[in-house]
Amino acid sequence: MITVTRRYAFSASHRLHSPLLADEANRELFGKCNNPFGHGHNYQLEVTVRGPVDATTGLAVDRETLDRLVRHAVLEHVESKDLNRDVPAFAGHYIPTTENLSLEIFQMLERSWRSEFKGDLPVLEKVRIEETARNIFEVHAHGQA
Ligand code: NI
Repeated sequence: MITVTRRYAFSASHRLHSPLLADEANRELFGKCNNPFGHGHNYQLEVTVRGPVDATTGLAVDRETLDRLVRHAVLEHVESKDLNRDVPAFAGHYIPTTENLSLEIFQMLERSWRSEFKGDLPVLEKVRIEETARNIFEVHAHGQA
């Protein structure tokens, strides 16, 4: 078995605001990320898959298939979007922190995985998002909340 990671990029905006907290508490907790007008990030998304190396091709994953899956299952839903408003999972429910975004993207990939990859392999191993150079988030298979 080997793991293979592909890197993608998308831009989106969000506003961090918890409906469970008062406005003042939101401002204290999230600071300028609570700005009512939101703000944008250039997210780096890494998708890691795990599988055996095929004896004929020497490959563990068909990159075109993975790219198509990531594009249809994730990128088309988040690219240039307002995450609070445009991604159903966050509309009025969850706060689009990159913690929650990472978990949601993992699930978006899992939901579409079998429609692209036939059979049991490769499997989705990890989703990693760099929100900024200093803020990095990972979701591992079997390690989801
Ligand atoms: Ni932010």
